[in-house]
Amino acid sequence: MKVLLVGEGAREHAIASAICRSPQGPRLYAAMRSMNPGIRELCLRSGGDVALGDSMDPEFISKAADRFSVDFVFIGPEEPLFRGAANAVEDMGIPCIGARREAAEIEMSKAFMRRLMWRHKIPGRLRFQAFRSIEDAIAYIEEYAESVAIKPARQAGGKGVKVIADFQAYLSKEKGHVKAEHAKAIEAKYMKGYADIEDRILIEERVEGPEYTIQMFTDGDSVAPFPLVQDNKNAYDMDIGPETGGMGSISGNGMLLPFITREEYDASVDIVRRCVKAIESELGVKYKGVISGQMMLTPIWGPTIIEFYSRFGDPEGVNVLPLLRTDMVEIMEAIASAKLHKVKMEFEEAATVVKCFAPKGYPERRDLAAGHPVRIDAEAIRAMGCEVFYGSVDLAQDGGLITGGSRICEIFAKGEEIPEISDRIERCSPLIYCLDGWGVFHRSDIGSAALLSRRIEQSNLIRDVYKYRMGKGLIGMDIDWIPGKGKIVHSVW
Ligand code: GLY
Repeated sequence: MKVLLVGEGAREHAIASAICRSPQGPRLYAAMRSMNPGIRELCLRSGGDVALGDSMDPEFISKAADRFSVDFVFIGPEEPLFRGAANAVEDMGIPCIGARREAAEIEMSKAFMRRLMWRHKIPGRLRFQAFRSIEDAIAYIEEYAESVAIKPARQAGGKGVKVIADFQAYLSKEKGHVKAEHAKAIEAKYMKGYADIEDRILIEERVEGPEYTIQMFTDGDSVAPFPLVQDNKNAYDMDIGPETGGMGSISGNGMLLPFITREEYDASVDIVRRCVKAIESELGVKYKGVISGQMMLTPIWGPTIIEFYSRFGDPEGVNVLPLLRTDMVEIMEAIASAKLHKVKMEFEEAATVVKCFAPKGYPERRDLAAGHPVRIDAEAIRAMGCEVFYGSVDLAQDGGLITGGSRICEIFAKGEEIPEISDRIERCSPLIYCLDGWGVFHRSDIGSAALLSRRIEQSNLIRDVYKYRMGKGLIGMDIDWIPGKGKIVHSVW
């Protein structure tokens, strides 16, 4: 069995490692943009090989699949999916773990995702407006004073989202100005270069609550979920600083997080499952691959969709893939033959923490963050009970590593208690440094007792509200009070 893995980040390193644990002894091949040393080692050790090139390009991926005569392709990141890599590979008769272009629209277009949820009356949906022109977006902002989230309508690497609370009537004009300026910035900066989508700007109602990610495999009919994970998007401790792709994440012992209940977990899985079925009923395409719900516990619904990923989250995938005991090859075969319901998903019972280490400059000045020689003492890290998943680094000719501008590596550890695991990873932090003195940073608070109790407190507050509303028959409804007009109830059913 030969498998081609597409992608070069820490998430793909974790996927590669899970594939190589298969008792069927698959040979691993990789199509990568840069030489991830961890993936390379797994490929060579399994008798496989590496193709270096544009790993987002369906043609490069198809050629690599052909060159290595692989039996399966597993696509890690979203961009190749958006560009039709799964379609290209399947058209060659090779089964692919990765959504076809049409199905990956659930991540690529946030407006498509919201419309789909509304058309199919799927719980956990938010009110939204999508705009194809900046003028229309600004006209809307001027007319309606609301607390909103303003986002690029396309997946733009998780960037460009601004949440603006607009409660005080006397500040509404100023807030309107901030919203309009941000809408302009989205068009000029974050949507620049994306001509593959008509909607440009999405304005959603603002919601608040703890976020979490539910990741699962699907064959289009059934889903096979992983334990819940919570990512931390802000660059710096205690949730401050710019949004990143994620600075680290935690998972609990078992399928739940310490602040999410079994009922909320089941509701989250059900929302994602319903979206998979809705995609098939609208587009006639079976979703085969990985789908993840980026969820929030909100007062309106309880479990609510913020966005979808057509892939594992990064770092979220790195928390749970090492715990997977089920044979990955068996899972891939079951997805291809639409027999996923026959596979028993088994996980090691352990809590996990992942912390990402990034060069200074990330996320806003990747040009400054790139090009630094970096040392990661993987052996010493392993000796401390942790594991390295390599990220945005390139293996140079002399065997050294050079930063690529994004997260250098993700350190994973597992155990009984999240704060103890977090402390263990902290002790590894001096083992990751740039040889030219350039700074490397990470978040020391991820998994700490202080952050954990903050999340638990926040969830309890939100849970009290949504349960109360549920009892009153108000779940999924919004109530606005507009001076001079009175009470407006937005029923979502
Ligand atoms: N951790 C967020 C993402 O994967 O997009």
